[in-house]
Amino acid sequence: MKIVVIGGTGLIGSKLVAKLVEHGHEAVAASPGTGVDTLTGEGLAEALAGAEVVVDVSNSPSFEDAAVLDFFRTSTTNLLAAEAAAGVGHHVALSVVGTDRLPDSGYFRAKIAQEELIKASPVPWSIVHATQFFEFFHAMAQSASDGASVHLAPVLVQPMAADDVAAAVGRVAVAAPLHGTVEVGGPEQFRLDDFIRQGLDAHEDPRKVVTDPKAPYFGAQLSERTLVPGDGALLAATRFADWLQADVARAAAASA
Ligand SMILES: NC(=O)c1ccc[n+]([C@@H]2O[C@H](COP(=O)([O-])OP(=O)(O)OC[C@H]3O[C@@H](n4cnc5c(N)ncnc54)[C@H](OP(=O)(O)O)[C@@H]3O)[C@@H](O)[C@H]2O)c1
Repeated sequence: MKIVVIGGTGLIGSKLVAKLVEHGHEAVAASPGTGVDTLTGEGLAEALAGAEVVVDVSNSPSFEDAAVLDFFRTSTTNLLAAEAAAGVGHHVALSVVGTDRLPDSGYFRAKIAQEELIKASPVPWSIVHATQFFEFFHAMAQSASDGASVHLAPVLVQPMAADDVAAAVGRVAVAAPLHGTVEVGGPEQFRLDDFIRQGLDAHEDPRKVVTDPKAPYFGAQLSERTLVPGDGALLAATRFADWLQADVARAAAASA
């Protein structure tokens, strides 16, 4: 199958392209870096010619409220129109578990807008809701940091490895359209503050995590189960402790 991966040079996209190629598919990594821009439409029709499936794992370069909303609205509108014109039979998008419960966050309002456009489109679709990537803990800490400390609510999270996210998205991409949303999560639950504390401690990051039930998450207040998937979720295998050990070793090798 020819499968175009929008955002195919990103964290999830590059892993997904590699997995699809390994399974014998013609996977095309599409991003501004490879001459395909979903905001301007540049290179889109050419990339989509002959494609059966398009997977959107792109992300906005800016998380500022107006910019991220404009990114997902414009890119998704352009992409779905190009897919309809090219006769693409399946649009797969990666979004986040709990997106519909987070309308107070500018980032999640943009993901809600993306999902609404997909559901209203004539192109057959599937949405994968994944939990927070282990790899994202650095960015989560950064966004909740005032320099010396990191303020986080002690709510439940069920994070997962980016490799497992890519595998789950790949399985959905090669199957029939769901016209629905599937949830994927990690094998264990943590408290958000403990999860980030473990990551920072393992990397000997001096910042202290402060447990604060009122701390916002990308602009939104969280309740106990906002970020965890429901009962029917597919659970990935990689455990945080194993991933973290390898991540610390990677960081040490990179700085050696
Ligand atoms: N972070 C999490 O924990 C989490 C959890 C669940 C779901 N998600 C979702 O996962 C998705 C992928 O995240 P990620 O961390 O893998 O993203 P990422 O590493 O930041 O990669 C973003 C990709 O989007 C591409 N891109 C940017 N602007 C584009 C444009 N105008 N046209 C086409 N492509 C464009 C980038 O291309 P260039 O490199 O060429 O700029 C890059 O390939 C996001 O939609 C996010 O909402 C994230």
